[in-house]
Amino acid sequence: MIPVLELKTQYAAIQQEVEEAALRVLRSTRYILGPEVQAFEEEFAAWNGVSHALGVGNGTDAIQTAVRALGIGPGDEVICPAHTFIATAGAVALAGATPVFADIDIDTFTLNPQSVEKAITPKTKAIIAVHIYGHAAPVIELKEIADRHGLYLIEDCAQATGCTVNGKHVGSFGICGCFSFFPSKNLGGIGDGGMIITNDDDFFEKAQMVHNHGSKVRYYHDMIGTNTRLDEIQAAVLRVKLKHVNAWNERRRAIAAAYNKGLEGVAITPVERPNCYHVYHQYTVRVPERDRWLKHLNDNGVGAVIYYPIELHLQKAFANTVPAGFSLPVSEKAMAEVLSLPMFPELTEEQITFITDTFKQFKP
Ligand SMILES: Cc1ncc(COP(=O)(O)O)c(C=O)c1O
Repeated sequence: MIPVLELKTQYAAIQQEVEEAALRVLRSTRYILGPEVQAFEEEFAAWNGVSHALGVGNGTDAIQTAVRALGIGPGDEVICPAHTFIATAGAVALAGATPVFADIDIDTFTLNPQSVEKAITPKTKAIIAVHIYGHAAPVIELKEIADRHGLYLIEDCAQATGCTVNGKHVGSFGICGCFSFFPSKNLGGIGDGGMIITNDDDFFEKAQMVHNHGSKVRYYHDMIGTNTRLDEIQAAVLRVKLKHVNAWNERRRAIAAAYNKGLEGVAITPVERPNCYHVYHQYTVRVPERDRWLKHLNDNGVGAVIYYPIELHLQKAFANTVPAGFSLPVSEKAMAEVLSLPMFPELTEEQITFITDTFKQFKP
C-alpha cells in the first residue's frame, strides 16, 4: 500500500541534523521561550518577508489567538469557508465569536469573493481566507472586500507554508497569517506547533499578550490571556527543516506535474492560478462516483483519502449557529467529488506511475 503520507524517509534524510538540534535543547535545559524560539521566529518572519512572527502551541491556537488579539468575541461574526479542517471555524467559536460560512470556487476550493460579500452583516468583523491544499485563496480580492467594509483579513496558512501570490508569501496579505507545524504539514515539527506572522506592530503586541497570559511584564497581567507557546525543541527542529522547505515544495510541484500528466482526461486535476505558486500540501482531484473510485484505489494499493467528507456548515458542532436548511452548493459539490492522492516529497517515480496507472484502471 502506498500511504497518503509517509514521514520516515524524510526523517532518515535529515536525522542527524534533527537529533543534534533536539539534543542541544535537552542539554541546555531552556525549554520554554528560549533562544531557539526567538531565532526561529526571526528566521520564519524573514523567510515570509514580514516584520514579526510569534510561535504558538498549534495552528488552532494561532487562529484563536489572532481572533482574540483583534478584539473579536461574543456577538461578532467571522466569515470563513466550510471546505476546510474544523480548526478554522472552531478557533473562531473558541474565541466566543460566530463563524459564518461562505461558498468556494470549485476550481481551487478557496473562498469565492462574491459569496463572502453576500455573507457580510453589521456584525461581521473579519474574513478568514484558507489557503486550502496549498493553493492561495484570492487574497487580493478578499483584502479589497475587507478594506471596503472595514473588516480584518486573517489568513489560515496551515496548509500553505511557502505558497505565494505575485511572488509574495501568503500570510503577508491580511492583518496576519496563521500557520500549523503539525507533523504532516509542508513544514512539520516533531509534535504540535504553530506561528502567527504579521507586519502590524500593535496587533503583534496584543497577540504576544494573548499567548502568554495577558502579560507584557512578568507577573503583571493586563488582560486574560492563555498559555499557548511553541516549545524550544519544536523550534530547534523546525529551524533545521525550514532550510529544506523550498526544495520539498519544488518536489511536491514536480510530483503534481507528473500526476497531472498521468491523469489527463481521467480526473479533474488541480488548477493553479497564474499568479499563484501552489505548494501542493494535498493533491486533490475531482471525479464523479467518487466513493467507488476511492474504493478501487484503496483496494489496489493506493492510500487515497477524502478531505473533507462533511463540510463545516453540515457538522453537528455548528448546528446551533448555522440556520436550518442553509446550503453552500459549490462546497457540497466539492464534498461529493474530491479525492486526495498520496503526496509527500519522497514519493518515487515508480510510486507515482503505479498510482496513476491504478487510477486509470478504474472501470466506471
Ligand atoms: C486549514 C487548517 N487550519 C487550521 C489547522 C489547525 O492546525 P493544528 O492542527 O496545528 O491545530 C489545520 C490543521 O490541520 C488546517 O489544516
